[in-house]
Amino acid sequence: MIKTDRITNEVDAPAKIILAGEHAVVYGCPAIALPVNSLRAIATFTPHKNDEYSGLRIIAEDLERGLPIDLSNAVDDALALTAKLTLEYVKHLAPNVTINLRSQIPMASGLGSGAAVSTALVRALCSALDIHLSDAEINAIVYEVEKIHHGTPSGIDNTVIVYRKPIYFVREHPIETFNVGAPFTFLIADTGHSALTRIAVGAVRDLFNADQARIQPIFDEISVLVADARSTIEMGDQATLGKLMNRNHELLNLLTVSSPELDTLVNAALNAGAIGAKLSGGGRGGNMIALVTPQTQEIVHQALLSAGAKTVFATTLQPSTV
Ligand code: PMV
Repeated sequence: MIKTDRITNEVDAPAKIILAGEHAVVYGCPAIALPVNSLRAIATFTPHKNDEYSGLRIIAEDLERGLPIDLSNAVDDALALTAKLTLEYVKHLAPNVTINLRSQIPMASGLGSGAAVSTALVRALCSALDIHLSDAEINAIVYEVEKIHHGTPSGIDNTVIVYRKPIYFVREHPIETFNVGAPFTFLIADTGHSALTRIAVGAVRDLFNADQARIQPIFDEISVLVADARSTIEMGDQATLGKLMNRNHELLNLLTVSSPELDTLVNAALNAGAIGAKLSGGGRGGNMIALVTPQTQEIVHQALLSAGAKTVFATTLQPSTV
């Protein structure tokens, strides 16, 4: 039975940033990620009228995909694979609907666009079929799809995006969230250079395999840093969180995943008064984040634009208890 209730015809999923611990998280270290609700992937579904079309059509206009998706080609097509895995999981034939996907999240820039689009698509399919899946079930499906984008994903992107809450994430461990002691505002600035996460992850893998004795201590330091970052967020301690972000950026540089553009934006933010700054996500391009106060937000924003950022926007982690 296909739902036609207009109110439930639209579902979405947020973008995300990684506050600390990217890359090391692939090797079992903890990492902290936050949802960014102001940027979303959105899926709407429309049941087909009588003989208009038969079966499932997925239209992803602003994802550079205007064509209906072929479910039989679900090997390296993330959208087709998402639909196929979802239908297999719920043991249902494809519904007779068109799903329109659009995303406000730039692709290949460390903000989780792939996981967000997959999540929105799973939700839309389930909504169309009137089937409820838990977040854990959706997360497992999206994780399988993430393997196309990332090769060996840790699972952090899909987890923060599906659960939509700040997470302290350790690969293959139950999801943990944490208290937030004070508001923390981050500016997110885009270098304008897209970079594929799986290339950066592969480069770190090569580095690790070539010189484990040098790289393992970097991962160990990141692990301690991430645990400290969690405590500072719980205590509402902005100054210490800023220092930890700066150190995390230095360590990511040692892992070769920064870029001249990312370093330029990080330095511009710090020179303009940001409390801390670092790349966020896979690196080598994509986005960086800067921790700011209400007093420094505007000047850091302008400094990032002057230093070449293509877009800058703010997101605030609000105080909360779990
Ligand atoms: O999708 P991105 O670019 O935010 O990168 C995800 C974070 C990594 O740690 C680099 C990879 C992973 O699978 O955790």
